[in-house]
Amino acid sequence: MARGHDVIRWSRLHTDKMTLTIRLMMATTSAAALWGQQAPTGLRCEYLTDPMGIDTPRPRFYWTPQHSERGAAQSAYQIIVSDDTGQTVWDTGRTESPEFTHIVYAGKPLESGKGYHWRVRYWDQADRASPYSEAARFEMGLLAASDWKAKWIRGSNQVRKEFSLEARPVSARAYVAGLGYYELRINGSKVGDRMLDSPYTAYDKRILYSTYDVTGWLHAGANAVGVMLGEGWFQGCATIVQIEVQTEGGRRATIVTDSGWKGTQGAIVSDSIYNGETYDARRETSGWDAPGYNDARWEPVNLKDPPKGALSAQMMPPIRAIANIVPVKMTNPKPGVWVFDLGQNLSGWMRLKVRGPAGTAVKLRHAELLYDDGMINVENLRSARATDVYILKGGGAEETYEPRFTYHGFRYVELTGFPGTPQPDTLMGWVVHSDVQAAGGFSSSKQILNQIQRNILWGISSNLEGIPTDCNQRDERMGWMADAHLYAETAMLNFDMPAFYSNYLRNIRDSQDADGSVPDTVPRARFAVGPADPAWGSAYPLLVLYMYQRYGDRRVVEENFEGMRRWTDFLRSRAKDGIVTFSKYGDWVPIEKTPGALVSTFYFYWSAEMVARAAEILSKPAEAGRYHQLANEIKAAFHQRFFDSETSTYANGSQTSYILPLFLDIAPREVRGRLMSQLRDNIVYARNTHLATGILGTKYLFPLLTRTGNADVAYELATQTGYPSWGFMIERGATTLWELWQEKTGAAMNSHNHPMFGSVGAWFYEALAGINFEDARPGYRRIRIEPQVTGDLNWASGTLNTVEGLVSSSWSRSTDSLRMEITIPVGATAEVHVPKLRANSVVVKESGSEVWKDGRFEAGSPGVVSAREAGEAVVFEIGSGSYVFERTGN
Ligand code: BGC
Repeated sequence: MARGHDVIRWSRLHTDKMTLTIRLMMATTSAAALWGQQAPTGLRCEYLTDPMGIDTPRPRFYWTPQHSERGAAQSAYQIIVSDDTGQTVWDTGRTESPEFTHIVYAGKPLESGKGYHWRVRYWDQADRASPYSEAARFEMGLLAASDWKAKWIRGSNQVRKEFSLEARPVSARAYVAGLGYYELRINGSKVGDRMLDSPYTAYDKRILYSTYDVTGWLHAGANAVGVMLGEGWFQGCATIVQIEVQTEGGRRATIVTDSGWKGTQGAIVSDSIYNGETYDARRETSGWDAPGYNDARWEPVNLKDPPKGALSAQMMPPIRAIANIVPVKMTNPKPGVWVFDLGQNLSGWMRLKVRGPAGTAVKLRHAELLYDDGMINVENLRSARATDVYILKGGGAEETYEPRFTYHGFRYVELTGFPGTPQPDTLMGWVVHSDVQAAGGFSSSKQILNQIQRNILWGISSNLEGIPTDCNQRDERMGWMADAHLYAETAMLNFDMPAFYSNYLRNIRDSQDADGSVPDTVPRARFAVGPADPAWGSAYPLLVLYMYQRYGDRRVVEENFEGMRRWTDFLRSRAKDGIVTFSKYGDWVPIEKTPGALVSTFYFYWSAEMVARAAEILSKPAEAGRYHQLANEIKAAFHQRFFDSETSTYANGSQTSYILPLFLDIAPREVRGRLMSQLRDNIVYARNTHLATGILGTKYLFPLLTRTGNADVAYELATQTGYPSWGFMIERGATTLWELWQEKTGAAMNSHNHPMFGSVGAWFYEALAGINFEDARPGYRRIRIEPQVTGDLNWASGTLNTVEGLVSSSWSRSTDSLRMEITIPVGATAEVHVPKLRANSVVVKESGSEVWKDGRFEAGSPGVVSAREAGEAVVFEIGSGSYVFERTGN
């Protein structure tokens, strides 16, 4: 979250490169900062940098104190917020507090549509004041329903309005929502760079609007505004636009959608997320989005049946065209059929350049797979046609087309109907997804891990389309809830996710039923009737928990406490004697099945525990007690029902039936050792070091093995290339993650971009690089650096931009030494586990001076507070700053 890393887009950089870039930035920063503390950087409001159009009445502030000394902390801060006229609306004065995240605004009421600037300074542990930060800005959206003067209009897929301004605009904002999707155009060009806006929400509850600064688009005199509309998830066309203008001389003008607008069907003949777009350029209404166009033949728009949801500000990174990608190969498998290979499975679309006679229809079909003869294989897209058609207007000039209101998940494109022979620049791809910035980087000496990491980055990012989707290509692409919680932690370690998941949690809340149940997909897809499978619906408490653990977000806990409690009570209403037998999917797509009741009861237990934990966080001891007790009852029932004391197994003895009760310590202490060694034997001997788990067991297996001293087995599984494994997919050409362990290419369920098995990516950061949060001080206020130096891994490196600031941990080893480079942000503390690696007499140096020798801590190195021996490691207690530990010994 800190400083200028915001500008790094992961897709432009290889992971190693990013780690390097962050390191370089750190090096530059510390060189320039030898003189102590500096102004805070990384100012954010509601997790966003300079957001425009937020509607939280009491937004929260974040900053990163900068300090070159070790063991630095903030002791007090001062925030000054002023409005655009320069008037102070909040001055905290000097406020004694070590907190610099989630600081809740408490000044004069913030006003609808108004902009504010804020600056912050801090005092360090020695009471020295920093300079003030540079000013950051935030702007309020339309706060009250009554601020909306505009009306929803519907009907045709192209609507327009001309208006005139008496004087030059000095400030203008457009507030816009469009269903399913819109493109706002003013005076001949598209406004902004958002794509596939408005994002998918439960439209009957909440519709997201975007705020644009359109000052530069407008001028004195005649202006025109137009909106193109697509079907999207709404499957209809509706829009609402309100433009607020301040002109020279202090006049105001408001332009709104109302019955005075006119509409027509434009060049987009049809559009569908799954099927693609057909665009007939002969039907273009050239000049329609500029003043002076003759719209006499256009129809008045319809004001009937406005969408039901309340308008709410879009407070998360929008979907954008993030990067372009040039095909790596073009083949001509049959006459007139050209197949382009982009070398990467991605979400987005192609830009086409073509010249030819009017009426020529050029067709683009998108696919993940090829047949042996080089033709595309679209079987696994099922009913999604994924086809864009462009019909030329002709006339001799080059024509350029790219679709607006669809997207495809694909690696290959088939081009047919092309007049002539395509050239290298005939097609170019756009990578399109929610524009979340990079937050972390992982790399290591093991190539296969780096390839998995790379596939995870592509797999997850191409499934962030306003909501976390299950896949990007076939006739689904929905917010399947288990998929969502399974890759959430990996997403949070790689990308800047808090605003995205805050929005998603609102979607879940909006989708909760009166009985407390939530749907399997959020927003609820038409077919997702009834309550979610317990393992799917538990995404609700799980995402709340992850937001709390990784970002320290207490407000999310407050907002969702009631909802998580109701979800848990719903499960309770389905339980009999502590057991939930209701299950639809269980441990999905496994090698070896696990009884659904075991899986469902595990999530029932966990949900109860999470409600208890949330109650503790919110200081509700009575509720915490009640749900702890419920959890204990479920725990006992689980053991009683599924444990067979003769064989010491749970249920059918599948790997997952060991993993789940061990992962949450549902299994009583006295049987855990035996269970763990049986699980290990099952993996190592019975299955020749392979897993047999589905999406659920796979996620929890890795942290379980690690914390029980079996990181070596986890490492072998993660680097395995035999079936089933991630390496198996990669050796067969995967550039993202498959839905199934099996390699399949047929007409059934086998997507080649399904991020749910990306759960293992969290283990890369936490076990291999060793960067861990501590639950008691969430949001990485308290950090545990505990890398697993295992297998043939010679080095690993992780960086993570947390809400506290930058954390990094890299280690490398040679035959007799281990070197660890660590950075801890200002205000945080950490324990660093330096593994002894079976050496007898360990000597540890920090930046050259001895800090551990003859079994004792040697004081003197700044920031290194103490050390102790714990099991197989020497554990150092450190404050903020950058450290180099070197362990030698034999
Ligand atoms: C989706 C999943 C989802 C599952 C439910 C599939 O069709 O793609 O990933 O979780 O259905 O079982």
